[in-house]
Amino acid sequence: MKPKILVTRKISDIAEKHLKEKFDVTLNLKDEPIPYEHLAKTCNEYDGVIAASWDKFDSNFFNVMSGKLKIIASIAVGYDNIDIEAAKNKKIIITNAPNVLNDAVAETTLLLMLGAARRAYEGLTLVKSGKWKDAKVDFTNFMVGRPLTGKTLGIIGMGRIGKIVAERAKGFGMKIIYYNRKKVSADMEAGAKYYESINEMMPHCDFVSVHCPATPETKNILNKEVINLLPANAIVINTSRGMTVNDDALIEALKDRKIYAAGLDVFNDEPNLDSRYLELDNCFTLPHIGSANNETREAMSLMAVENIEAHFKDQKYPSRVA
Ligand code: GLV
Repeated sequence: MKPKILVTRKISDIAEKHLKEKFDVTLNLKDEPIPYEHLAKTCNEYDGVIAASWDKFDSNFFNVMSGKLKIIASIAVGYDNIDIEAAKNKKIIITNAPNVLNDAVAETTLLLMLGAARRAYEGLTLVKSGKWKDAKVDFTNFMVGRPLTGKTLGIIGMGRIGKIVAERAKGFGMKIIYYNRKKVSADMEAGAKYYESINEMMPHCDFVSVHCPATPETKNILNKEVINLLPANAIVINTSRGMTVNDDALIEALKDRKIYAAGLDVFNDEPNLDSRYLELDNCFTLPHIGSANNETREAMSLMAVENIEAHFKDQKYPSRVA
């Protein structure tokens, strides 16, 4: 009998096709989210699940797993939606989908940097509202923002995505510095200056961009004390997870113009983000679309399928996290 696989959300057509060739598959072609209350009961009937980062696999979920479910293959790189210790206790394998999204996230990071620095939200709103013709256009103030060229970008978390962001930012003539738990290899560093302490790095950042995973150690890594160390015209960028930023601290800094702007793709409690962000015209926001281009989403879907295949063929997982 073929293993039964549940796919909780619509994934790419080609990935669904591959899966159907080898497994007894339940797809979610209408892409209707499975409510949290039903997720455990449903998953208990399957040998494997391909899931999205929106599905929450907490300790309550794993506590009621009765032994059939063997693997959850996530179509995301971040797995803060999964209680890894609880999964391990139940001997349920967890895999993710890293690397194939690195370029896409780096592109989104540059989009946020440019959008925040060059006031793209204000410009777009002015044009689309039809109010440009009524605006006072002058040479020194009208939509005048900040450059990237010649500025210093501080990267928090010099991993695979951080490294690509650094490469792309160098293309804009930026200087790169970074904070990481440990100094990385010379190849990863590629000339960027390492700071052992985030507090020491912050005063040197014209831009600071978060690229570390969401863990208890990185929760609120951008807190009030750290944000207050930024120079006056700094720009804060986040494409990692909302929990790395303390909303009260960032909103206060933006509101009081202690920093210049922020570019955010991720939020605490998204999509119900803190509504104070909506009132700030110096906050350029996107709806968590870091990896959202068609090729990347296809590659992420295929990686989840490969992880499932590896499990049932007893082969090496392309990307196992637990
Ligand atoms: C997206 O946020 C991901 O973790 O893949």
